Amino acid sequence: MRSTNHSVTVIGLGPMGRAMASTFLDRGYDVTLWNRTPSRADALVARGARLATNVEEALTANELVLLSLTDYAAMYDVLEPAATALTGRVLVNLTSDTPEQARTAARWAVERGAVQLTGGITVPPSGIGQAASSTFYSGPREVFDRHRAALEVVTGRTDYRGEDPGTAALFYQMGMVVFWTSMLSYWQAIALAHANGLTAADILPHAVETANSLPGFFAFYAERIDAGHHLGDVDRLAMAMASVEHVLHTNADAGVDTTLPAAVTELVRRGMDAGHTADSFSTLAELMKKPAA
Ligand SMILES: NC(=O)c1ccc[n+]([C@@H]2O[C@H](COP(=O)([O-])OP(=O)(O)OC[C@H]3O[C@@H](n4cnc5c(N)ncnc54)[C@H](OP(=O)(O)O)[C@@H]3O)[C@@H](O)[C@H]2O)c1
Repeated sequence: MRSTNHSVTVIGLGPMGRAMASTFLDRGYDVTLWNRTPSRADALVARGARLATNVEEALTANELVLLSLTDYAAMYDVLEPAATALTGRVLVNLTSDTPEQARTAARWAVERGAVQLTGGITVPPSGIGQAASSTFYSGPREVFDRHRAALEVVTGRTDYRGEDPGTAALFYQMGMVVFWTSMLSYWQAIALAHANGLTAADILPHAVETANSLPGFFAFYAERIDAGHHLGDVDRLAMAMASVEHVLHTNADAGVDTTLPAAVTELVRRGMDAGHTADSFSTLAELMKKPAA
C-alpha cells in the first residue's frame, strides 16, 4: 500500500471520475484506477495512471479510495466481492444517493474495517479541480482533516458538515431539488418558446434575468419562513393562483406538455383550499412539510 500523501485510487470512471483522476494526475499524484468498462481508463493510462486488473488490486494500492459511481447499489456491486480488501481503507464516497443510503453504507464500511467519508460534489465535471468549486463532506472529522489536501484537489473548497455520514448527502439532495425543478422549468419555457416560433437563444437573456432574481427572493423569504411569518403584505396566495393558472393556460393553448405547470397549480390550489388565500405563497412551504393527503 502506498503512502496517502500523493497517491490515490479512483473507482468509477464516468465523466466525474475521469475528471477527478485527470486532476490528480495534473497535480502529480500516483493514480490507480478501476472501472467496470476498462476502456474508459485509456486516456488516463496514457497519461501515467495505473489500471488495476481487479477491484482488490485497486483497493490494496492505496489507503485513500475515491468512489464515483452512479449510485450506492453500484458501489455494493463493485466492492462486495472484494470486501476482504477493504480493511484499513478510507472510502471517499462521491457517489450521490439518499442520506439513508449514505448512513447504511458508512455502517457497512465500518463492519468491513474501512471508513466512509460521504461527499456531495456541487459542480459538473468541468468544475472538478477548480478553486471555486465546492463539495459537501460528512463523516469522521479526523479522517476529513487528515485527507483534506487530497479532497481539495477534487474541488478547491470543502464544506465539512459534521460526523453524520448522511448530512453531506442531505445537503447535496437539497441542492438537487432546486437544480432539477429549475432546469425542468427552463425546458418548459423553451418548449413554449419553440411552440411560438422562438428559439432557446431568443429567450436566454430573459430566462437568465429571471433566474438571477431568485437569490433575492430566497433570502427575503428564508427569514420570514424561519420566523413562521406568512403575511400577505407583499404577495397573496390568491394572486399566485391567478398567475400559475395563466402559466398553465398559456402552455395548454400552445399545445405543449402541461405536467409541470399543472403540478405547480395543484400545490397552489391546495394552499387555497386550506384557507390561505390572503397569506403569502410562502405558506406553501408549510403545506409541503407533509405528504399530500
Ligand atoms: N455528472 C455530473 O454533472 C455530476 C455532478 C455532481 C455529482 N454527480 C454524481 O457523481 C456520480 C458520478 O457521476 P457520473 O456522471 O460520472 O456518473 P455515471 O456516468 O453514471 O458513471 C459512474 C460510473 O458508475 C459505473 N457503474 C454504474 N453502475 C455500475 C455497476 N452496477 N457496477 C459497476 N460499475 C457501475 C460506471 O461504469 P461503466 O463505465 O462501466 O458504465 C461509471 O464508471 C453520480 O453519483 C452523480 O450523481 C454527477
